[in-house]
Amino acid sequence: MSAATTSAKTTHFQGVSPWSLADDAGYSAWRAQKLDGYEQAITAPPIRLKDLANPSESERAELAKRCQKTNLAIYETIPLAADPDRVRADLRGFSDALGLKIAERHRSAGELGIVALTVTDATSQRGYIPYSRKPMNWHTDGYYNGPDDQIRAMVLHCVTPAGDGGANQVFDPEIAFIRLRDLNPDYITALMHPKAMSIPENREANGTVRPVSIGPVFSVGADGHLAMRYTARTRSISWRDDDMTRRAVAVLAEILQGDDPLIQSLRFAPGQGMLCNNVLHNRTGFDPDDELKSDRLVFRIRFHNRVKGS
Ligand SMILES: [Fe+2]
Repeated sequence: MSAATTSAKTTHFQGVSPWSLADDAGYSAWRAQKLDGYEQAITAPPIRLKDLANPSESERAELAKRCQKTNLAIYETIPLAADPDRVRADLRGFSDALGLKIAERHRSAGELGIVALTVTDATSQRGYIPYSRKPMNWHTDGYYNGPDDQIRAMVLHCVTPAGDGGANQVFDPEIAFIRLRDLNPDYITALMHPKAMSIPENREANGTVRPVSIGPVFSVGADGHLAMRYTARTRSISWRDDDMTRRAVAVLAEILQGDDPLIQSLRFAPGQGMLCNNVLHNRTGFDPDDELKSDRLVFRIRFHNRVKGS
C-alpha cells in the first residue's frame, strides 16, 4: 500500500462527522446513538448533590454523563435561599470543580462573575428583558458575542422561584440539528453559512458599544462539537438575504413553537438548577398579578468551555 493511499484512507476515516452533509453514514450512525434512550434520559430525576460547592467524583461523573447524552444536567441541592452570597460562593466552587472557565465580561456580571437574574431598576439593566417579568423568546446565550468569545456552557440556579410562571423550556441544539437535517439538509447549509445571522451593534446606557456580530447559527468547534448561536427575536437582527435561509429560519421557529417530544419544560424549585452546554432555552413571563409579586432570583453563570467529559 502506498503512503498516499494510507494517508487518504486516514483522512477519510477522520472525516467521519455527524455534522458533515457529505457523510450520510456517519450522520446516521451518530443520529441513532443520539436518539437511543434520549427521552428516558431527559425524564430522569435531578442529580442530588450533597454539597454544591464540592460535587463528589460520582456526582461529577453523572453530571458529565447526562451532558454527554443530552447537553443538559438538572441537579438539586439543599436550598440556601436565605443566603444568596453563600450560593454564589458555592456556585463558584461548583464551576471550578467541573473545570469550567467563567466568562466574566458580561456587563451585568456581578460578584464572582455570577449574574443575578432578578427584577431590577438598576440603570445598566433597565429595559433588558432578563431583568424584567416579561417572557423571553428562544435563544442560546451570548448569541451577540464575537466568534472568539462564544459561550459554550452555562448554569442557571434557582434561589427563589416566581410566585407564578417563570418556567423554562429547553431544547438540545443537536436535536434541533437532527430535526432540520431530516427535513432538508439545505437548511443546515444555510444555517452554517458564516454570514447567516447578524446582530447590529448596540450602544449601552453607559456609552459602551457592543460591536456588530455576524456569524453562523450552527458551527463546529475545534473540539469537533456542534455549537449553536441563535435568537428567535425578530427586531435588531438580520438574516442573510437568501431564500433558503429564510425558509430554514421559519422552519426552526416552527419546531421551537411546536410540540416536539424532546423539548423539555422545567420549573425549578429553590436549590435546583441546570448545567448545560448552552442549549436553546426560553422563559415564560411571571408574576402578572401586582398583588402577588415574588422576589424571583436565579443565578446565571456563563462559560467559555463545555462541561468536561461531555
Ligand atoms: Fe439565556
